[in-house]
Amino acid sequence: MSTHYGAIAFTDAVVDVQREHGSDGFYGRKRVQGRAAPGTDALTDDEREYLADRDGFYLASVSETGWPYVQFRGGPTGFLRVVDEHTIGWADFRGNLQYITTGNVSGDDRVALIVLDYAQRRRLKIFGHARVVTVTDDPALVKSFADPDYAADVERAVLVTVEAFDWNCQQHITPRYSAAELEPHLAPLRQQLADLRAENARLREGLEGGEPHAR
Ligand SMILES: Cc1cc2nc3c(=O)[nH]c(=O)nc-3n(C[C@H](O)[C@H](O)[C@H](O)COP(=O)(O)O)c2cc1C
Repeated sequence: MSTHYGAIAFTDAVVDVQREHGSDGFYGRKRVQGRAAPGTDALTDDEREYLADRDGFYLASVSETGWPYVQFRGGPTGFLRVVDEHTIGWADFRGNLQYITTGNVSGDDRVALIVLDYAQRRRLKIFGHARVVTVTDDPALVKSFADPDYAADVERAVLVTVEAFDWNCQQHITPRYSAAELEPHLAPLRQQLADLRAENARLREGLEGGEPHAR
């Protein structure tokens, strides 16, 4: 965990609770007092590779009345792009026309993402500032985020300037696998089952048509 992540996440109220539970000493090193935390966290190859392999994530924004709002964003694997070491972005698809996230970030650009890999039981949490880019603003940029092989109407791109990130532990993540992840394991089993069925049918035919077995 970076000190910058601690500076954002470990507010006074959080530190009070840590103190109650005796973890403030451990985490204190990760908290730079006030908002004067140095720089922002740069994404490394580890985060870049991890994010490029994902097909969804959860995105939290803050409403103008202070309510947190979480929405799932999904797409083809790799739709979440690392633009550079401080920027990630994705194509935002036309959905239920509620535009809650878009409205929220127009007032307060702070967002949080949690990006899970259920199969490998990994999770990455990101704090950042979101910027919505519409087709009218920059058609080329929005198009550059679209995947022509994926059937979705791209309404806008969302760019997030990453402030800080932190990898979480694996605890309590139930391993889950997508259909695509399971397919390489299921295909040979399916073939084996077909072969066994065919062999079984041949053996049955032989039994029914052949001589009864001697006892
Ligand atoms: C026809 C249609 C209906 C949808 N209905 C819902 C819904 O009832 N609840 C929901 O959370 N998402 C729904 N979605 C998905 C959201 O529209 C999508 O996740 C969108 O990005 C939400 O953005 P927002 O949460 O920023 O408003 C629907 C999508 C489509 C295409």
